[in-house]
Amino acid sequence: MRLKDKVTIITGGASGIGLATAQKFAAEGAKVVVCDVNQAGVDQVVSELAASGATAAGYLVDVTNTAQIASMVADVKQKFGRIDVLVNNAGITADAQFVKMTEEQFDRVIDINLKGTYNCARAVIDTMVEQGSGVLLNASSVVGVYGNFGQTNYAATKFGVIGMVKTWSKELGKKGIRANAVCPGFVATPMVKAMPEKVIQAMEERVPMRRMAQPEEIANVYAFLASDEASYINGAAIEVTGGVTL
Ligand code: NAI
Repeated sequence: MRLKDKVTIITGGASGIGLATAQKFAAEGAKVVVCDVNQAGVDQVVSELAASGATAAGYLVDVTNTAQIASMVADVKQKFGRIDVLVNNAGITADAQFVKMTEEQFDRVIDINLKGTYNCARAVIDTMVEQGSGVLLNASSVVGVYGNFGQTNYAATKFGVIGMVKTWSKELGKKGIRANAVCPGFVATPMVKAMPEKVIQAMEERVPMRRMAQPEEIANVYAFLASDEASYINGAAIEVTGGVTL
């Protein structure tokens, strides 16, 4: 119960790492707010969490839509009175080699992964400053440290997330707010499982541990970073890769 009663908003919480994070935070006692563009997914996770005895709420929110985000934040504050943790997890890929990437592909990924992260943090930050406490956790990637073939757009967003996190940590540390990024390697989620089997095998061979991460192994890191055990971790970009970059 490391997160007892911590009011936590998780974006993209209907699938993959976001879903595992919602489950982990609920198990640790948090009051979990899940938002996603997938209404059926939101309904399912909220009803599962509620059935397990957790306090949970769900919202249909597109992280590119500031009106939807503002309305969710206002409702969460009314319901729960505070916001302790934001997990900026929602993200997409739209891969193509640089010479083939369209402007639409570039803009779509920037809008969701980078601007969406900014939008959601902006929407909760005044509340956290007023409280004098809060934790901003943000999905970067190993691709946000090293780049990746076919991912000009995605790499730009994930490097950008680390840049925002380091800036937020410098500006907000004195206000009792910590900001950190998590940089997973390959994680077995729908985003990665959609790749051809041969590509997945080749990826796994590059990992010293010879396997992808399970979403729960990333959720565990978010839970630690949100907890008071991580009280002096601020401005970090934590790689959770099974050693793939070595
Ligand atoms: P996923 O595709 O399983 O889940 C992403 C969720 O975000 C989905 O439920 C989707 O509906 C939601 N979403 C998409 N666009 C949205 C929007 N505009 N507003 C609100 N919700 C939206 O993805 P996965 O793999 O769980 O990834 C989660 C995060 O972790 C992403 O930011 C991703 O870039 C990052 N990541 C994933 C890695 C992997 O290997 N799976 C590796 C490194 C980082």
